[in-house]
Amino acid sequence: MGSEDGGGGFTSASVEALLSPFARSLAPPTSLSPLPFDLNAGVPDRESLPAAALAEAARAALLEDPGGALTYGGAQGFEPLRAWIAERHATETGQPVTSAEVTITTGSAHAIDNIAATFVGPGDVVIVGAPSYPGAIRTFRARGARLVDVPQDDDGLRVDALKATLAALRTAGTPAKLLYVVSNYDNPSGSTLPEARRRALVDVARRHRVLVIEDDAYTGIDLDGPPLPSLSEIGGGEGVLRVGSFSKIVATGLRVGWIVGERPLIDRLVFMRFDNGSSPFVQRTLLHYLRSGAHEPHLVRLQSIYRERRDVSAAGLRECCEPYVTFRPPAGGFFHWLRLRPGLDAAAVTAAAARQGVAVTPGTGYFANGGGEDRVRLVYSALPPPALREAIARFGRALEEVAGVR
Ligand SMILES: Cc1ncc(COP(=O)(O)O)c(C=O)c1O
Repeated sequence: MGSEDGGGGFTSASVEALLSPFARSLAPPTSLSPLPFDLNAGVPDRESLPAAALAEAARAALLEDPGGALTYGGAQGFEPLRAWIAERHATETGQPVTSAEVTITTGSAHAIDNIAATFVGPGDVVIVGAPSYPGAIRTFRARGARLVDVPQDDDGLRVDALKATLAALRTAGTPAKLLYVVSNYDNPSGSTLPEARRRALVDVARRHRVLVIEDDAYTGIDLDGPPLPSLSEIGGGEGVLRVGSFSKIVATGLRVGWIVGERPLIDRLVFMRFDNGSSPFVQRTLLHYLRSGAHEPHLVRLQSIYRERRDVSAAGLRECCEPYVTFRPPAGGFFHWLRLRPGLDAAAVTAAAARQGVAVTPGTGYFANGGGEDRVRLVYSALPPPALREAIARFGRALEEVAGVR
């Protein structure tokens, strides 16, 4: 297989010809870097993974009900875990949500795809932020969406621009169907939508009958106090699909996410799944872990780890990079979103950083329709403080090189 000599296998050219038009148009995903200092991949700290508590939980899940853990568990997910998520959502929002309004997915990446598969047809308009999470951009695009972007500033999606965009789309006869937004600690911008913007966003989405997808992947990594009311809460549980994940608060390798929303929407999402459901073994293990008493202290520990890393990296950036970058430290999550001084280009800065052994991500990968040449995303979650300091000092030298100072 894979030979280029005209044998029986597929060549890269013949695979290219086989691709769907959507797959052909996709940008590659960001990945782990082989460089010594990886400030590129938005991954959690490896040392703090709760492996021992999960091992105990896995054993308990298997002993309690081996048949339940090791056979198909249904498309909507393990009911007691859905009930746990519903209860937590109800406590946070005051909405009386039940397990029927929750569906479990294989991570929140799958949740976004489940939503796109269910509601997006070729040419349907999906609104995303400029910038936006590339995984969502790829997923919507792969399902045939036409992506229309709305600018973001330091406070997240600009709702004045959203209003104008929705009105223009309606006038053009192509009203938007979905609006995708990360209201807490956005990837990549790190921004958090202020409450007034949340209210205005929910209001305008409702008036235009646009379904809001609130991606809450980083909620829980709250570094400056508890999060603001979610869009789902502000909407009174209507018009918003709230997507969550255990990836950042427990472990990315679990691949457990969820969607909370109105019952008719959830029923359709469940109906659309052809994958025999997410792993019952992992869901049961996770529930044992969540009930064990280990989770709450773990979350507090994670917050203190990431708070220190955010602060160490912000101090390093101010000390070593400030003449060349400006930024606002985020209130949670994993990312600094740097604005480069005029004249500095993200591709050149990324290449110079690589020569210093540091991987960062150029801003251009985060825009559905172009932009980001003056931006760089820097991940502070993955490296411990000494390595983070060293990486940022090296990044400062890369900036000096591109600015012509070295
Ligand atoms: C904004 C956002 N949403 C969703 C995801 C997907 O995460 P997972 O599928 O692990 O829940 C990520 C991953 O980095 C993300 O940054």
